[in-house]
Amino acid sequence: MCHGGGQSPDLSAGWSYDELMDGGYVDTEFPCSSVIYEIFSGSHSDRATEEDILTILGWIDEGAKDN
Ligand code: HEM
Repeated sequence: MCHGGGQSPDLSAGWSYDELMDGGYVDTEFPCSSVIYEIFSGSHSDRATEEDILTILGWIDEGAKDN
């Protein structure tokens, strides 16, 4: 609904991985500095659960694989 193509990054299936990686939203060297993590302590503080945010951080920690 929010990032289905209208608003960057496009997080729809099949697009999300390349959008996140090519768009520079993910920093595998400093995961906590990743835009997709930092936004949850800013404009997106109410848009994901604590568990979601930890899942995203864990994914980046594991090298942000296309899995
Ligand atoms: C209620 C659902 C959501 C709405 C309405 C929404 C809307 C927006 C809007 C308007 C922006 C551009 C301005 C801003 O940075 O705030 C934005 C940026 C962004 N959103 Fe969302 N969003 C939603 C949920 C999410 C979720 C669940 C994620 C991640 C899993 C996400 C990831 C991002 C990212 C990475 C940016 C780019 C921030 C930047 O460039 O600094 N959004 N979103």
